[in-house]
Amino acid sequence: MRNVSKENITSAFLDYMGDDTDDRLKFILERLAHHLHDFVRETGLTHEEWRKGLELLYNAGEISTPQRNEFILFSDVLGLSSLVDMVNSPDNGTPSSVLGPFHILGAPDVPVGVDLIGNNEGQAVVVGGRVLTPQGDPIKGAELEIWQTADNGLYSNQDTAQPEYNLRAHMRTDADGRYLFSTVRPAPYTVPDDGPVGELLHATGRHPWRPSHLHFIVQADGYRSLVTEVFPSDDPYLDEDAVFGVRNQLVMEYQERTDVNGLPDDLEIKDKLKAPFYVVDFDFVLTKDTGSNQRLTS
Ligand code: BEZ
Ligand code: FE
Repeated sequence: MRNVSKENITSAFLDYMGDDTDDRLKFILERLAHHLHDFVRETGLTHEEWRKGLELLYNAGEISTPQRNEFILFSDVLGLSSLVDMVNSPDNGTPSSVLGPFHILGAPDVPVGVDLIGNNEGQAVVVGGRVLTPQGDPIKGAELEIWQTADNGLYSNQDTAQPEYNLRAHMRTDADGRYLFSTVRPAPYTVPDDGPVGELLHATGRHPWRPSHLHFIVQADGYRSLVTEVFPSDDPYLDEDAVFGVRNQLVMEYQERTDVNGLPDDLEIKDKLKAPFYVVDFDFVLTKDTGSNQRLTS
């Protein structure tokens, strides 16, 4: 097209694509161009603002390393990561929530009832529940990956003072679909705010805090893999998570207990637990695999 205008530039973009372009790619790019072009027309974006945006992206590239992906963090704080999660989350299962950058492969295989507290400081929590189908049937042998921060708000791969796989585990549910472990209460923490994402947060009066949470990946043959997090109901940042990860169904009461009576017998440290401690009861519901499932760990 030799007479490109504000009005026809979006359809010119579509016309430029070859006939053999993959249909889905064509659709996504056409919609992206449509919304981006509308955004520029609607805001009357100035050269200076456009340059500032590109500078933020350039700086995101500069600060990114294999350990720190500032582009994912932009996606997180803009609500994009969570929106992709929600759009792809089936209605009849446990909602998914952000994976975050601190998951690592190779967490030790542990039995149901394991103690993860070891030498960690902090309030003891007993976490347990079942992995179920939407009909409420237990899923035996489902795999759970568990990871969380220590009491100082740092994951083991951020803190050289912690053992390599501290507060990380890989567990399989028992014949009743049960999982169970004792741990310490995770702490709220900030997402990295010393780069361009921090610049955006500060410029818009936002803080970088996430409410404390336990991360889980739950997988079983024939079911969709679930990446999610569980949050305590009394966390001060529950209503202002910097990455929009909180859903009602993922908020759990940390029930304070003073007595070990009633705790399952296969809890490794049942007889050594010092009161008061907390109990978290949370069931995961996995939905049937519709064919698009990707196994997230080996
Ligand atoms: C996390 O929960 O580990 C996380 C998620 C998004 C950004 C940073 C951290
Ligand atoms: Fe996290």
